[in-house]
Parts: sequence; structure tokens; C-alpha cells
Amino acid sequence: MTHTIRPRHDEDLPDLAAVLVRVHAQDGYPVEGVADPEGWLRHPNELQSWTAVEDDRPIGQITLTRAVPEDDAARVWQEHTGGDIDRLAIPVRLFVDPDYRGSGAGRLLMEAALDLARSQGLAIAFDVMLKDRTAIRLYERLGAVYIADLNHRYGDGLTEPAAVYVVSHNESSN
Ligand SMILES: CC(C)(COP(=O)(O)OP(=O)(O)OC[C@H]1O[C@@H](n2cnc3c(N)ncnc32)[C@H](O)[C@@H]1OP(=O)(O)O)[C@@H](O)C(=O)NCCC(=O)NCCS
Repeated sequence: MTHTIRPRHDEDLPDLAAVLVRVHAQDGYPVEGVADPEGWLRHPNELQSWTAVEDDRPIGQITLTRAVPEDDAARVWQEHTGGDIDRLAIPVRLFVDPDYRGSGAGRLLMEAALDLARSQGLAIAFDVMLKDRTAIRLYERLGAVYIADLNHRYGDGLTEPAAVYVVSHNESSN
């Protein structure tokens, strides 16, 4: 199976929202739930989003965001590196339709986000829930390096164990 990765269009959002509802039912991602899937996909700090397409149908997506001090991953990254949060990008909202997994769409989406961050000279960090083992394996294959644990807080006092990873600029994405 070969996938096309292209910049996301607004017209993709209804299909991606439907995919996200299925992803949540199967994988519990995102832990917050998907009460408003299209709203959740419109990230306020978006730099660029990409859609993975199969037979003209959106099957997955990723969003690259500009970090803000309120981001857990940005705070942890700054504590560890002393870096400037204004020069940090965070990939978020990565998911692929369960029917199209395991054929490289997730990797291509992540590579698109990493390439843009690198081309803009931005550092890259992100958090991932420890339960999302497939995602962690994918990130580690792309050269992501664990830097710290994090307790992701959500809802009414709930927490989910997570970790923060960084990807360096000279890391090969092949
Ligand atoms: C993480 C995720 C995006 C990966 O998407 P994907 O398109 O399956 O990714 P890839 O195909 O590039 O890589 C998946 C790996 O699992 C393997 N795999 C094989 N069959 C698979 C299957 N049926 N399902 C999932 N993975 C499979 C792939 O071969 C690959 O490993 P490998 O390179 O060692 O062989 C997807 O699993 C997902 O949407 N998970 C739920 C949401 C989530 O956790 N998002 C990340 C939040 S931080």
C-alpha cells in the first residue's frame, strides 16, 4: 500500500473526525475523548497539518504546532535543555485509521512534521502516553530520544502516565 501525504485541507476534517472517533474507540486516543472531533483537530497553535490519503480518502493526520509555555512537553523540554520555547515545535494529533495501519502512513506523517520543523530551524519535542506503545516504537525508530516522565492531567482530576521525547536536527529520518 502506498500512501500520499499532503497538506491538510478543511474539507478533510469531516473524514478525519470520523476516523478519530474510531481511533478513540479502539485505542483510547486521545485520553480526553472526542466530544468535538473537528474542534479538537483545529489546533490553536498550528503551524501546518498534513493528511494521509488512500484512494482519495483521508485516513490519518498530524499537526505541527508552535510551542507555548502552557505545553507540558515545552515546559519539560525547557527544564532539561534550557532552550527557548519560541524556537520549539511540537508534533501533535497523530493518528491513522485502524484499517490502514502498519503500512507506513504514520511514519510518513511524522516525517513530514519533522522535516518542516527542521527546515525552520525549530527544535522538536513532544509527549506521548506510555500506553501508546505503537506510537513510541514509531518515534524511537525515527530517532526520538526519551528525556523525562510526565503525568498528563486531564478531565476532572484524572492523570495518565506519559513521557517527553526530543528529536535532534541531525537525526536521519530514513
Ligand atoms: C501510532 C500510529 C499513528 C502509527 O500508524 P501506522 O500507519 O500504523 O504507522 P507505521 O505503519 O508507519 O508504523 C507502525 C509500526 O507497527 C507495525 N505494524 C504492523 N502491522 C500493524 C498493524 N496492523 N497495526 C499497527 N501497526 C502495525 C508496522 O510494521 C510498524 O512497525 P515496523 O516499522 O517496525 O514494522 C497508529 O498506530 C495510531 O493511530 N495509533 C493510535 C493513536 C496514537 O497512539 N497516536 C499517537 C499519539 S502520541
